[in-house]
Amino acid sequence: MLAQTRGILLLTLFLFAQFPLRSQITPEENNTCLKCHSAHSYSIYNEWTEQDQKRLMNPYYILDTMLLKAGVHHTFKCIDCHAYDYSTYPHNGDLKLEPMMTCIDCHGGDETYASYQFERIEEEFQKSIHFEKHSETFTCTKCHSQHYYKPTTRTSTNINEIVEFSNNMCLSCHNSNIDYQLISEETSPKLIEVHSWLPNQNLHFQRVRCIECHTEVHDTLLVSHHILPKAQATKNCIECHSTNSKLQASLYKYRNLVARSEDNNIISNEYYVIGAYRNKTLNYILLLILAGTLSGIIFHIACRTFRKK
Ligand code: HEC
Ligand code: HEC
Ligand code: HEC
Ligand code: HEC
Ligand code: HEC
Ligand code: HEC
Ligand code: HEC
Repeated sequence: MLAQTRGILLLTLFLFAQFPLRSQITPEENNTCLKCHSAHSYSIYNEWTEQDQKRLMNPYYILDTMLLKAGVHHTFKCIDCHAYDYSTYPHNGDLKLEPMMTCIDCHGGDETYASYQFERIEEEFQKSIHFEKHSETFTCTKCHSQHYYKPTTRTSTNINEIVEFSNNMCLSCHNSNIDYQLISEETSPKLIEVHSWLPNQNLHFQRVRCIECHTEVHDTLLVSHHILPKAQATKNCIECHSTNSKLQASLYKYRNLVARSEDNNIISNEYYVIGAYRNKTLNYILLLILAGTLSGIIFHIACRTFRKK
């Protein structure tokens, strides 16, 4: 019964999404929810004392309206995903246990967005170390917020932004025991210590994604989701610091990216060796300095020969 209702709901949702209605940006109705869910405090009318009262909002339940607007699901009403009963406050306690739809419930077999290969991503994810060890608690939502998600690797033109967006997903949990311990009994290993063999750690974490070293690279999937056990992580410097860098097949895979960022020196040349900057302006400056020095020396010699005479 539940499954059927869900099915019908989903179908309606999808039909809606196909029609011009989708052009409306962030539905008005959401403001009633966001009045409370985007601020640090909210007001309720207390019938016992017959007064308005201000209270603090649980910080984890405060949504960022800018990120909501930028996210792929910004045309949704809150109650498309959450129960209609949330429209009243105090919320009904039973709602806390309401099962939420996952990415695959909606996007599995989704022809419209076939290019994302949702099913393959799910397959990959199910092979990952996270799912293997914690299949009950580890879901797509642990990395992708349904409120804010935006496929950055596909849409951004800026490598640094892509790396930051992607790494923040991992760091938000691996650097925070609060999130980590929702899944594991252990404390999160200190990433700085774990990667102490890697020189210039900060630079690496800013310039390469965690998944570069921690997943298998595929030709046909834009973002690999198969996170390997730590023993199989890349430790070999040559995989990236060589003319045939692994990064060409992963981080810099998206061909458009290459076209879009002609001037980004890291990828402008197929034979570029990572870590060795190739910067045209610098080349010119160097040439100028060289020319300057040479002419200086020639002038000097000329003067001396002239004087001798
Ligand atoms: C009057 C303020 C107010 C309004 C309006 C409001 N909420 Fe809430 N909501 C809260 C507070 C406070 C909580 C924290 C839990 C509680 O006190 O029940 C909460 C909790 C939640 C939760 C988390 C449930 C849990 O405990 O796990 C969800 C989901 C939620 N609200 C969705 C909505 C949606 C969707 C709407 C609009 C249809 C909405 N809320 C409108 C105040 C509000
Ligand atoms: C595309 C589906 C979707 C839409 C639209 C959506 N939510 Fe959610 N929301 C979720 C899911 C899924 C969770 C549970 C997150 C998790 O499991 O970590 C959630 C969790 C929450 C929570 C609990 C805090 C948290 O992050 O776990 C609040 C509060 C909430 N939503 C409010 C809202 C409000 C307000 C809106 C409208 C502006 C909204 N949601 C729109 C899917 C959605
Ligand atoms: C309740 C159903 C539902 C859930 C759950 C859901 N989506 Fe969506 N998603 C949609 C619909 C419908 C659209 C189309 C929205 C539109 O066009 O305005 C969409 C759009 C998208 C797009 C944009 C595609 C494009 O190119 O414009 C991406 C990417 C996406 N979803 C990823 C996800 C991910 C990742 C999750 C899980 C974290 C997820 N979705 C969960 C229904 C859902
Ligand atoms: C361990 C974290 C993690 C988990 C779990 C995870 N993803 Fe991802 N996913 C990422 C990262 C990192 C990216 C790359 C950043 C980006 O472009 O959004 C990504 C990208 C994506 C994309 C965009 C790919 C493209 O071609 O543009 C989709 C769609 C997606 N994930 C869906 C899912 C689905 C569905 C699940 C669950 C079956 C899932 N993800 C689970 C980390 C994760
Ligand atoms: C240059 C490659 C590289 C990069 C980049 C990298 N890692 Fe690692 N990581 C490794 C290797 C290799 C190991 C195994 C270390 C060992 O066992 O000595 C490892 C180990 C780990 C472990 C296992 C910790 C433990 O001991 O249980 C975690 C978790 C981890 N990395 C997360 C991350 C995160 C999150 C990022 C991104 C911020 C990241 N890694 C970036 C190569 C990398
Ligand atoms: C919501 C929390 C969370 C997020 C997000 C997350 N992880 Fe993890 N990760 C864990 C937990 C918990 C473990 C420990 C699993 C265990 O050993 O029980 C783990 C383990 C690992 C390991 C070690 C595997 C081993 O062999 O012990 C690696 C590597 C790793 N994660 C990489 C990543 C990368 C890369 C990302 C981002 C794409 C990421 N994680 C995102 C929670 C998370
Ligand atoms: C996943 C790919 C990857 C791996 C593996 C990797 N690196 Fe790097 N490394 C990079 C990138 C990308 C940069 C940043 C290059 C830049 O922006 O100039 C970098 C920068 C560096 C720098 C700084 C260069 C500079 O211009 O300041 C050093 C030193 C370095 N790496 C050494 C190593 C060593 C040693 C190893 C093996 C233990 C290693 N790297 C493994 C990708 C990698």
